[in-house]
Amino acid sequence: MSYLNDNYLKLKAGYLFPEIGRRVKAFCDANPDAAKRLIRCGIGDVTEPLPPAVVAALHRAVDEMASRATFRGYGPEQGYDFLRSAIAKNDFRDHGLDVADDEVFVSDGSKCDCGNILDVLGHQNKIAISDPVYPVYVDTNVMAGHTGDADAAGAYAGLIYLPCTPANSFIPEPPKEHADIIYLCSPNNPTGAVATRAQLEAWVAYALAHKAIILFDAAYEAYIADPAIPHSIYEIPGARQCAIEFRSFSKNGGFTGTRCAYTVVPKSLLAATRTGEYQPLHPLWNRRMATKFNGVSYIVQRAAEALYSTDGKAQIKALIEHYMGNARVLVTGAKAAGLTVYGGINAPYIWVETPAGYNSWQAFDKILNDANVVITPGSGFGSKGEGYFRISSFNSRANAEEVARRLQALAW
Ligand code: MLT
Repeated sequence: MSYLNDNYLKLKAGYLFPEIGRRVKAFCDANPDAAKRLIRCGIGDVTEPLPPAVVAALHRAVDEMASRATFRGYGPEQGYDFLRSAIAKNDFRDHGLDVADDEVFVSDGSKCDCGNILDVLGHQNKIAISDPVYPVYVDTNVMAGHTGDADAAGAYAGLIYLPCTPANSFIPEPPKEHADIIYLCSPNNPTGAVATRAQLEAWVAYALAHKAIILFDAAYEAYIADPAIPHSIYEIPGARQCAIEFRSFSKNGGFTGTRCAYTVVPKSLLAATRTGEYQPLHPLWNRRMATKFNGVSYIVQRAAEALYSTDGKAQIKALIEHYMGNARVLVTGAKAAGLTVYGGINAPYIWVETPAGYNSWQAFDKILNDANVVITPGSGFGSKGEGYFRISSFNSRANAEEVARRLQALAW
């Protein structure tokens, strides 16, 4: 007999975004006319083309691959030195942060890394996650067998849920109880909230006191407009002893379809063996990458490197300004529609309270049916997301303006 991984059977329905896709497809099949005016503000997928500096680098790299003299086969699993060094210099050392080139591991996505990191962490860890939360953190722990079953509200036994509500500006406080692994995401997906320096200092102090590890997801750091908000957990003293940081080129360089991201694992970050001796995680992650990953393609790594050129940086800035211009349009439109709105200032996500009498999925259906706009129901991000929905500002300006108009025309 062969056995399946029973943990997968504990997962709730489908992964949120495929589930939304299924419902939207059913709606479009049943309403072909409405389907023609559908605007998607659900999944946070970029809409604007790759920056010209990236396109030029892609062409150059393809030409290199077309010639025997410059062709490349397998690359280093951890990433080419040219990209690891551009990342460590531009994203960290130029900001006074101590990150070495070989502490940067290039990958095909932060979603993958957030799940894969569990390979090098023990099963006995007590896991703390925000609620609402990016579903990948929860689902990958369920798949790895780190939880019991989900209750009726979708909360899994064995996880510590940290409620994020208007009362704490959607940034969780360190819990009274002990946690070994804490997932933090700032700027936050889905709420669009950002953690202040003081809030991150409290988390680093907690992690050091508890010998815990913070898994810091900074995929949206490029959207931070407020100069007081940290872009990296390593801006907080002590974080090199207790934090792993995930970053992505998806949302700054438009790489959702091109695929490139990276994870920083400081050599100073230790975790305990079963017998209680502290050892660095860096060699374990290095080993994991070498064994289970063949690296991101040379062509794509050259494309990512181009984002650090002068032109590339200016083109990223223009992309962020475009999406944040959409965020302003959507925030203004949703407020004018009488909705209570959060986020959308340092993040591309707008977090909206559902009007009285509607839960998250009812609001999703109403907005889909009556406004022909796809949003994301807050309850898909956790039980504390119930009563909210998320609007993504990844779109054309014309679509953002049209969504703002349709929200105001909607009769609840
Ligand atoms: C989202 O919509 O939450 C994101 O696009 C998901 C992701 O980046 O994986």
